[in-house]
Order: sequence, then structure tokens, then C-alpha cells
Amino acid sequence: MKHMYAPAGMEISDAEEIAGLLQVRLADLTDLSLTLKHVHWNVIGLGFTSIHELMDQQAEVVRGMIDEVAERITALGAIAGGLPTQVAENRTSDADYALGRGPVMAHLGALDKVYERVITGHRGAIERVGDVDAVTEDLLIGQTAKLDLNHWFIRAHVSDTEGKLATAGTESEMEAAATSAHLLQPGGETERVESEDEEELVPLT
Ligand SMILES: [Fe+2]
Repeated sequence: MKHMYAPAGMEISDAEEIAGLLQVRLADLTDLSLTLKHVHWNVIGLGFTSIHELMDQQAEVVRGMIDEVAERITALGAIAGGLPTQVAENRTSDADYALGRGPVMAHLGALDKVYERVITGHRGAIERVGDVDAVTEDLLIGQTAKLDLNHWFIRAHVSDTEGKLATAGTESEMEAAATSAHLLQPGGETERVESEDEEELVPLT
């Protein structure tokens, strides 16, 4: 759909470009909020209650960000694309979150990668909008501070006393889950099991 107007004092072409970029941020944040609820429901094991509750707190914060981004898109003169298909098309990940039911530490390892991707996307957007739209830049900077804080709450669980992350060097959510899953059971290991529908991490007993 053709972009018809821009905020006062802004070029339509700039508003259109920034709205397009925000659609991707909207999709990533929506994907993140759904993933946090998914973990809220499907996490198991030692530490369940604190992570179950933390996931709800973080999902609430992220839902607030979704609304801010969507309403900035509409203020820029575009349509906020928050429907499921639009989210799946626009998000920077190419698949849904990798874990199903799984232990606390496996989910926290995987969530470290999820936050890494979303925050990197926000920082990239801040770089791009800075010259033409300080209002969107300000919005994204404020959100990135909150995302960094949420990320720290995840990372504090997978860090050692030197500050080294168990997920360091991992590429995928499943790989990060595997390197973190043993942390509540020193010396413990996990194995990766592939089922028909999805991969599951199963602690070795
Ligand atoms: Fe709940």
C-alpha cells in the first residue's frame, strides 16, 4: 500500500523506510513475547517457579514495547503489521523457538541466543534511523536498555564467576541449550534427542 503521509516536517520517503524497518522490530518483539510465554508454560525442573514467574514479567515488558513500536509505525503513516503471518514473514529468525518442554537451564541458554538476536536487531535499527528520525531513535534506545536488562537476567544464570557465558561461541538455540543444560548439575550432561516434530533435550541420568 502506498505511503500517503509522514509526520510533520518529515519526508514521506524517510517515513516509509523507517516504518519498514520498524515492521521487522515489531515482528521480532512479537516473536520474543510469544517465546517468553512458551517458556513460561513449558519450562520444567529445578528453579521452575522463579523462571516461570520471570518469563511472565519479561513478556509483560516486551508487550509494552510491541505497542510502542506498532503505534510509531502508524504515526509514521503506515499500517502496523502485527498479524501472525506478517510476524512470521518479517521476523529476523527463520524458524520458531527450538525447544519444547525442557529444563530450566536449557531454556535459559536458548533464550540467551533469542535475546542476542533481537537486541542486535534493535541496535542495527538505531544506527539506521539516527540521521532522519530522532523520535524513533529515542524509542528504540529506551527499549534496548530494557532488553539489555532482561538479557542480563537470563545471562546471570549461564555465566561463571569469571563472567564467561556457557553459551559463548554457540550458533543456535539448541547448541546454547546443550552447553547450558548441565549447569544445575555439575558434571551432568545432556543428549540431543530428535522426535518427529521437534528436538528435545533430555538430561542424562
Ligand atoms: Fe501463566
